[in-house]
Amino acid sequence: MEAKKSFLEQKIDLESPNKNIVPITTSIGTDGKLTIGGCSIEELVEKYDSPLYILDELTLRNSCRAYKKALEKYYPGESLPIYASKANSSIFMSNLVSSEGFGLDAVSEGELLTALKGGVPNEKIVFHGNNKSDKELDFAVKNNIKVIVDNDYDLERLDKISNSFNRELEIMIRFTPGIECHTHKYIKTGSFDSKFGFGIEYLNTLFERISNTKHLKLKGIHAHIGSQIFELEPHNDLGEIMVNVILDAKKFGHDIKKLNVGGGLGIKYTEDDDPPSIYDWVKTISNSVVRACKKYNLDLPTLMCEPGRSIVSTAGITIYKIGAFKEIPGIRTYLAVDGGMSDNPRPITYQSNYSACLVRNPLNINSKNKYTIAGKHCESGDVLFKEIELADCKTGDLICVFGTGAYNNSMSSNYNRIPRPAALLVCDGEAEIIQKRESPFDLLKYDVLPDRFIKQN
Ligand code: LLP
Repeated sequence: MEAKKSFLEQKIDLESPNKNIVPITTSIGTDGKLTIGGCSIEELVEKYDSPLYILDELTLRNSCRAYKKALEKYYPGESLPIYASKANSSIFMSNLVSSEGFGLDAVSEGELLTALKGGVPNEKIVFHGNNKSDKELDFAVKNNIKVIVDNDYDLERLDKISNSFNRELEIMIRFTPGIECHTHKYIKTGSFDSKFGFGIEYLNTLFERISNTKHLKLKGIHAHIGSQIFELEPHNDLGEIMVNVILDAKKFGHDIKKLNVGGGLGIKYTEDDDPPSIYDWVKTISNSVVRACKKYNLDLPTLMCEPGRSIVSTAGITIYKIGAFKEIPGIRTYLAVDGGMSDNPRPITYQSNYSACLVRNPLNINSKNKYTIAGKHCESGDVLFKEIELADCKTGDLICVFGTGAYNNSMSSNYNRIPRPAALLVCDGEAEIIQKRESPFDLLKYDVLPDRFIKQN
């Protein structure tokens, strides 16, 4: 029987990177060791230490281009893809997506500032959030950033702000479309029982309230179903639901020109995952909007979508160094790495699965062992892999975990006062720092010992 191929030997889909486990520039050097973006991983760790986040520029750009090309191909009206920066927010990412013609979705003053610093044009930024602070709202309005109204509290405050400036303010609203999808319950947002957005049954009241304001102009609607979705059906249904909302709004005098379908396309973390391609996702949503507009004789709105994970996840890897081993005879062998739940909280939060390999023997040639990969935090649940097959490992070996570009760095913490890793960008054999490594001293920066305690000691 032919041996099963490793995920590293599978054909790479250059057009839709979310269908691969590994970055599209992944290869195995003549020395049998792993390289990404033309860079030897071992050399990068020698120079920059571990753990290390790495992003592959070509994978990022190919993902952005797939969305752009697919929208041009399948949507006959205007379109604007916007990057959901919660997936991985940095000045670099803001700059990269902007250079690819994307807008950006931010949910806090921090993400807004990062986007602006990265050079995203103000008019291409949208501001989400179910509990925006007064300061954040003010900041967004003053910077001409489009606010997505999530609830009555947003609406009341925007009404006041626009009256105080005595000027028109374009807004979009977010509603919950009542669409179910199969994903982890924490990352489902489109069903009726969600903390985000207006219930669909409330929309007529909302339209009337907006009509009664002096300066608010409703120009767009938004819905987001959930994240890491593999089915196309939910997005196939979304177009008609949203077009109906546009028609309802018309009855109250609102001329809605923008339709934002959110993000949600899944990626391939392991060989069990088979997400649709970016092209199929965009085609489904485009057809669904076009079909509904034809049916109701409506001009095509500008189609916006907000991918996060499918832009950045597959482009990212994390490299760890192996330290301690603990063998429990007949049960398992733990190997411990120099990071864990602080740089990747997804396994402990969502029981997420990943793929990984040994950097010096990625194809497990000549040996196979089962290991449990544990992080270094004081928490039994800090386990990155419950069971994984790797070549014989020893202390000092490097492990590469794939698919960590999204919701790892952005959800990282300093639990146990562990500094965040550095992040590198790789391209054409060159590596550049995009996030400096934190040091334990950085973590002391915000601690304050009140004077009377200093005196006591
Ligand atoms: N738009 C809105 C309004 C969203 O809430 C999200 C994700 C996105 C776009 C982007 O969705 P994506 O294309 O990345 O699926 N921390 C979780 C994921 C939370 C997603 C939150 N919202 C995880 O690690 O899986």
